[in-house]
Amino acid sequence: MSSTVEHRDRRRPTPASRRRPWVGLLALLVVAFLFVVWPPYLTLDRTLSRIPLNPDPGHIHYALVVAHIFFGSVALIAGILQLWPWLRRGHPRTHRAVGRIYVFGGMLPAAVGALVMMPMGALNTLGMIGTAIWAVLALSTTFLAVRAARRRRYDEHRRWMIYSFALALAPISSRLWFFLLLAVVPGAENMIGLVGIVGAFWLNWIGNLALAHWRVRRIPVLARR
Ligand code: HEM
Repeated sequence: MSSTVEHRDRRRPTPASRRRPWVGLLALLVVAFLFVVWPPYLTLDRTLSRIPLNPDPGHIHYALVVAHIFFGSVALIAGILQLWPWLRRGHPRTHRAVGRIYVFGGMLPAAVGALVMMPMGALNTLGMIGTAIWAVLALSTTFLAVRAARRRRYDEHRRWMIYSFALALAPISSRLWFFLLLAVVPGAENMIGLVGIVGAFWLNWIGNLALAHWRVRRIPVLARR
């Protein structure tokens, strides 16, 4: 009897969506984030920008911010598609095409754009250092992921992609860190500027990288299972 049950279990593997519910949750989080972020920028009205812009109305800063958000959104959507086991395993050609979009139409222009526009806004030195490290890490992990894939080292590719996408998700964590710091740090409401910088340009990517590292270290265990 028990062997019949085991036999049936083996024939019907658990669907990937149930084994990895976090992919669906991440997708929902990304969609919700994009719905919140885009409306003021879709109007192309620079007075609605959520971040302080260069005071010169003809300055290229606003155009760079909108382009940055566009490329960042491409990276988030493409990254979610890349995580989807159905696409990765069942449609390798599409996976490769979406991967190119993630790299060249998403992460690369978003991170380079961040470095270019960073000195044009109101970021202080602490914010700029955090941004520069975040952007360089985003570029390097993405480059290492591409290099590993070209050399057909797919395990290594997967690990670097997890780090790269964790860095792409950091703008979402920024918001969470901001509210968390406000809730737990005594007197944080009197240091909104500092809390914003630490949450949005340091803890966001450090926290995501730590989670990614935890996930990467679990891969051999998952593979053995
Ligand atoms: C790849 C690494 C990234 C870095 C280093 C980075 C850095 C930055 C910087 C420096 C700013 C300007 C902040 C200011 O002047 O106050 C910014 C703004 C912004 N970034 Fe990124 N970013 C990255 C990826 C992304 C991604 C993937 C998205 C996804 C859509 C994104 C969405 C935004 C948004 C929406 C803003 C405008 C601020 C807001 O409305 O909250 N960024 N980013």
